[in-house]
Amino acid sequence: MTRTMIVAGNWKMNLSRAEAVALAEGVAEIKTTDAVEVAVFPTFPWLVPVEDALDEGSVVLGAQDCYVETAGAFTGEVSPAALAELCGAVLAGHSERRHVLGETNELVGAKVRAILDAGMTAYLCVGETLDEREQGRAKSIVEEQLEHGLAAVGTTELAQIVVAYEPVWAIGTGVAASADDAQSMCAFVRGWLGARHGDAGTAVRVLYGGSVSPANVDEIFACEDVDGGLIGGASLDAESFGALVAAAGRIAAV
Ligand code: 13P
Repeated sequence: MTRTMIVAGNWKMNLSRAEAVALAEGVAEIKTTDAVEVAVFPTFPWLVPVEDALDEGSVVLGAQDCYVETAGAFTGEVSPAALAELCGAVLAGHSERRHVLGETNELVGAKVRAILDAGMTAYLCVGETLDEREQGRAKSIVEEQLEHGLAAVGTTELAQIVVAYEPVWAIGTGVAASADDAQSMCAFVRGWLGARHGDAGTAVRVLYGGSVSPANVDEIFACEDVDGGLIGGASLDAESFGALVAAAGRIAAV
């Protein structure tokens, strides 16, 4: 079965309102085909203007985080039900939330569940730190993140899951994983999913994230088990993001 590729832009805590709208207008104009899904994840306050700027095109609008409860006395948190009125997808467990904000595997798993319950796609982010890699623990760390992140997700719900493998040491550093490492880790994720969930697990899209750029995208996206990318820095410019979407289109056409 062919898996539709995804090129997703995580804009993180960047861009003014005017910049976000201009970027969304640029992304809406990127030419793509049914073989490549494009998604953008702006900061919360710009979800509404970005939704307007995307103008009912095919670009999926996503949020970078959410809370685990639907409503109530949770000052400052954002409800998945509210997001579902705007968004098709939400990130869960991005490494910056795990390592800067202290999110645990258990919390990430609860967020994945809440995102699915609200009817959206959960992009579960996993990945090891440099220390963990150097200690030979990359796969066991990712396995633990998958086990907790997907603990409450059933086989029939896997079409609503995307996994993004993002090694922490490659995020924002300009040093991407080699194509061999990206392939090996994404194949590991797919193997884990397949062992637990059979064909539905194998069919989950697995993305690579971490310093993907127009310079390295072809070799990374060409990897058999890499179904596209979750892009930080290079998604903040419509031209470079467009180059990544075009690369996915070329690979999907092969
Ligand atoms: P960079 O592409 O800037 O390394 O960021 C990757 C990332 O964290 C996407 O979620």
